[in-house]
Amino acid sequence: MNTLVLFYSLTGRTHYEAKRIAQECGGELYEVREQRRRSLLSAYLFGPRQARKRTYVYVEPIAVRMEEYDRIIILSPIWGGRPAPAFNTIVSELPAGREVEIVLTSDTGRVKDREGIVARTERMGVTVTDFRVIKTEDLKKRDRRRRRAK
Ligand SMILES: Cc1cc2nc3c(=O)[nH]c(=O)nc-3n(C[C@H](O)[C@H](O)[C@H](O)COP(=O)(O)O)c2cc1C
Repeated sequence: MNTLVLFYSLTGRTHYEAKRIAQECGGELYEVREQRRRSLLSAYLFGPRQARKRTYVYVEPIAVRMEEYDRIIILSPIWGGRPAPAFNTIVSELPAGREVEIVLTSDTGRVKDREGIVARTERMGVTVTDFRVIKTEDLKKRDRRRRRAK
């Protein structure tokens, strides 16, 4: 299956996970960036509220033809319990008829309104085939395990 791995990442953890997933499935990796780069301070000050209100943020034009892929995997960090605002923008640009996997990263592994996130994504005419939350702490543990296993 022809797969696109689209991700937004502020501090690099989601990027790391997206790269790993793309390598595993042989998918194309693409980073979505906000037009106005955020500092960590502004992310903490405004981000969770924007995420709660499901704000759309301006992102740099997504220069990849999403309609050429059968499966699109979207990765985003969780801010204030919900996907970061760039996730909403990515979803709003999804072409209909695709299979979509949602992968969120967070420190706690918890997300609010899972059903709502899936329902709003499926309003784009796509089918959400998987939804998972990766605890970023687990990434570090897994890396350590892999290094030990080598
Ligand atoms: C503004 C902000 C809000 C966050 N809110 C949460 C949260 O509500 N719950 C949680 O478990 N982690 C929260 N985190 C942690 C991130 O979700 C987690 O570290 C994520 O993997 C970071 O991804 P990134 O490095 O790709 O930006 C928050 C981080 C930021 C910057």
